[in-house]
Amino acid sequence: MKINELNTPVYLVDEDKLEKNLKILQNVEQETGCKILLAQKCFSMFKVYPLIAKYISGCTASGLYEALLAHEEMGKENHVFSPAFTKDEMTQICKICDHISFNSINQLELHRDIWENSNVSVGLRINPEHSTQEGHEIYDPCAKGSRLGITRANFPNTLPKGVEGLHFHTLCEQDAVPLVETFKAVEEKFGEFLPQIKWLNLGGGHHITRDDYQLDMLKDLIKYIKSKYNVEVYLEPGEAVALNAGYLITTVMDIVDNSLPILILDTSAACHMPDVLEMPYRPPLKNSGKPNEKAFTCRLSSRTCLAGDVIGDYSFDVMPKINDRLVFEDMAIYSMVKNNTFNGITLPDIALLHKNGDCEIVKKFSYNDFKGRLS
Ligand SMILES: Cc1ncc(COP(=O)(O)O)c(C=O)c1O
Repeated sequence: MKINELNTPVYLVDEDKLEKNLKILQNVEQETGCKILLAQKCFSMFKVYPLIAKYISGCTASGLYEALLAHEEMGKENHVFSPAFTKDEMTQICKICDHISFNSINQLELHRDIWENSNVSVGLRINPEHSTQEGHEIYDPCAKGSRLGITRANFPNTLPKGVEGLHFHTLCEQDAVPLVETFKAVEEKFGEFLPQIKWLNLGGGHHITRDDYQLDMLKDLIKYIKSKYNVEVYLEPGEAVALNAGYLITTVMDIVDNSLPILILDTSAACHMPDVLEMPYRPPLKNSGKPNEKAFTCRLSSRTCLAGDVIGDYSFDVMPKINDRLVFEDMAIYSMVKNNTFNGITLPDIALLHKNGDCEIVKKFSYNDFKGRLS
């Protein structure tokens, strides 16, 4: 099946682009000796886990279900972090994960009887209280009042018995410079513990596969950490794995007019790309420009009831028509994992674009997927 034969809406993941990203990540692993994990919260298309497994060391999970997915579909290193676990979750996690990062001393101690009797390596998430992002408090674990990670003031003076690792995650779509800065803050606040641990997890938010990312700076930092502290270094990017490796293809269902032409699409920001409203951001759209850059400016919108379900204003050389297809880019990440069926809107199919140009439909959704989550 070719791209233009796919039904819309459809998330189409580009195998070639995914593999190019994976090769960059593999090179970082090989040159530095670090280990890279897929953050499944960002991208969990398990159909491609065997491909991902060829290049990087495993997965990280935000809780039991993602950990189970990695265990069943990837079968490599399996790490997990959550601010809190139930006893039942901890019991299952200790059977399938090899690393757990706890968010508090309370959680560490609450579950001690379970993890101490397993082979899991346990760590603590720390908060270096060093913000490197502006204007995105919702994505800043170092923002004032953050619940994520233990601050130095709340960290004990001696490492609790059994703790083998430390974890920090503070970045979002960032370069190597803020990482280097953040590591300095970690050394200043938590440096005394670094010689006592076996592993250090630098979290995600590293845009390693973006063209202008400073790969050498990242590699130098990892080599420095490994040689100075003799620890295993982990990185757990989500976005960098599938950055620019997927599309959301949609069809124009209608065009209405109110100050400007408004395209009603068979996709929705609220349902199929919630980060567009949450973050917020304007997703790239193939063959389009900013408002008024090209001859015809239109508002791209959806068929939900939400007045604000607007993807953005875009301009085109040729005025779009009903039944035309539009292609949103960079839609593999934080899309399928966050979508929903608000208004009973159909979920997009999931498809894979193979290197020879053939498309494989991996999954189709129906009324049963909508009804199945309700009662
Ligand atoms: C603890 C943790 N690790 C990894 C990630 C992945 O981040 P990204 O997809 O931005 O690389 C996140 C994202 O929120 C996170 O919270």
